[in-house]
Amino acid sequence: MIEVISKKFFLRISQSKKLNKAARKWGLKFGAGQVVAGETIDTAIAKVKELNLKGLCCTLDHLGEFVSSKDEAKVATDYCIQTLNAIKKSNVNCNLSLKLTQLGLDIDFDFCLENMKIIVSKAKQYDIFVRIDMENSSRNQITLDLLKELRKEYENVGTVIQAYLFRSEQDVKELSGIPLRLVKGAYKEPVHLAIQDISEIDENYLNIIKIHLLSGTYTAIASHDHVIINKIKEFIKQENIPKSQFEFQMLYGFRNELQLSLVSEGYKVRVYVPYGDDWFGYFMRRLAERPQNVSFALKGFFSK
Ligand code: FDA
Repeated sequence: MIEVISKKFFLRISQSKKLNKAARKWGLKFGAGQVVAGETIDTAIAKVKELNLKGLCCTLDHLGEFVSSKDEAKVATDYCIQTLNAIKKSNVNCNLSLKLTQLGLDIDFDFCLENMKIIVSKAKQYDIFVRIDMENSSRNQITLDLLKELRKEYENVGTVIQAYLFRSEQDVKELSGIPLRLVKGAYKEPVHLAIQDISEIDENYLNIIKIHLLSGTYTAIASHDHVIINKIKEFIKQENIPKSQFEFQMLYGFRNELQLSLVSEGYKVRVYVPYGDDWFGYFMRRLAERPQNVSFALKGFFSK
């Protein structure tokens, strides 16, 4: 019961524009520094270098969401370009992840598409892959529409499909040939759109991973769930799927030992490395997923 309440609570405050805005002035608080790799690109690149040395690939995300003016979206676009420049300059093994609402999706589709084209074409020049994170269900279709527009010109871009949505099996089938990151799903979604039962979400998660792998398309399996990971390892062996056709992904600061043990078994592992001062929404969603994380948040709160 407490778990359900805390999940709802953290998901609700993760969407508070007021708190998100205020948190930018606080600096990384409540232990957020354990899951956010600093506030500047220099600190984030230093962390990426450390992870690369351990055999882990990365994807950098300049944190931000809920942009409501074109000026803010342009600033976010510039941050993405600066991130790409820093990846290129430091020669690290790293991709870019981003959210379309940062780049003006809620303002105007064509404006957001133009910003994305600037980013994806620069990334193409540097041979860097761009992953569009999937936000809540109200942005799902428009994100897929925008991806399809981009894919007419660029191959170095893909998105994320969430196993909890009823529509996702169909989406994965339709997106065959496009590299996808597959996740369970991080937002609170209504019963008419999303599976609510955890074991049913897990079942659908395995189902969509298998469909995408069997279609021969490059697949990113983004989960900290060792049960899912072990089942996929078995499936891959059984179906003779080459290790070059998929990667595991985990978030910065989560299950570090599991990340390294997968690397030692010869699997490709990518760490999602968020950075920047707009950390609040991201951090609250992580607390919602795993109530155990609350203990380090509280420790962080009391030690500041
Ligand atoms: P889940 O949280 O369901 O845990 C299952 C079990 O795994 C637990 O019961 C426990 O046994 C074990 N476990 C999990 N975490 C552990 C830990 N830290 N330590 C020890 N054991 C642990 N979502 C979204 O909606 N859009 C997106 O774009 C993305 N992008 C994304 C990228 C990456 C790289 C990752 C890893 C995740 C996302 N997500 C996401 C979030 C995703 O949808 C999901 O909410 C979280 O990954 C939590 O689900 P898990 O599959 O990790 O396991």
